[in-house]
Amino acid sequence: MSLTQQHKKLERNVTLLGVGAFVAVAIGGIVEIAPLFWIENTIEKVDGMRPYTPLEQAGRDIYIREGCYTCHSQMIRPFRDEVERYGHYSLAAESMYDHPFQWGSKRTGPDLARVGGRYSDEWHVQHLKNPQSVVPQSVMPSYSFLAETTLKAGDPAATLRALQRVGVPYSEKDIEQAPADMLAQADPEKDAGDLLQRYPKSQIRDFDGNPSRLSEMDALVAYLQMLGTLVDVNSAAAQEALAEEKGR
Ligand code: HEC
Repeated sequence: MSLTQQHKKLERNVTLLGVGAFVAVAIGGIVEIAPLFWIENTIEKVDGMRPYTPLEQAGRDIYIREGCYTCHSQMIRPFRDEVERYGHYSLAAESMYDHPFQWGSKRTGPDLARVGGRYSDEWHVQHLKNPQSVVPQSVMPSYSFLAETTLKAGDPAATLRALQRVGVPYSEKDIEQAPADMLAQADPEKDAGDLLQRYPKSQIRDFDGNPSRLSEMDALVAYLQMLGTLVDVNSAAAQEALAEEKGR
């Protein structure tokens, strides 16, 4: 039987063609998927990335509770227009401690992956209270109640414990200290202890402009001001990780 005849037979028999197609697709599938079971990690480690402080994590929980993700993404794509507008594109490692991640594809408002440090705390507070007072054409709703709501963080130690169970490397000390860390980060009068050693680059100050109360606004602004600031994307180590990420 010649090759053409064999092929004729294959393409005229539904079952045979089905089996043939399955085998062809399975080979592609195995080549793509199988290595993932043997490599240790799919994310390159990058210097500077650390788990969120209890206050930042509380802010993150408020961000999710209020549905900020319905209008904002946290992932800068590696396209020129995005990089020029938002900054260096996001690295996989930058969301390695996110449960759940906030990548998203819905952008009614801008991407927030690198919004940290772009505005002052006062700007954020004013903007969250009344977005139109700083950006007149904004369609963002007001979240003024956050400044009047005392942060009920439940049990920050339990939150950290839950995150630890899904792989976020919080130490036993981090968990034990969580309630104290949370208060200390928003109150420069308090002794923050070794907060800065355990959470490098954590910003310690009163975020909402009202030192008499630890509000949900404090937590949310602390979270926003941290976004994208942990990894120095221009440092040599980060460039190396990037090159590896690209080469893969
Ligand atoms: C209905 C959609 C919508 C929701 C929900 C929303 N935003 Fe926005 N947001 C916008 C739009 C539109 C802008 C751009 C105009 C402006 O600055 O107000 C914006 C801008 C921002 C900015 C400034 C970003 C920049 O780079 O200039 C921040 C920060 C922000 N939003 C945070 C939040 C947070 C935090 C929440 C949840 C508490 C939230 N947004 C909920 C639509 C939304």
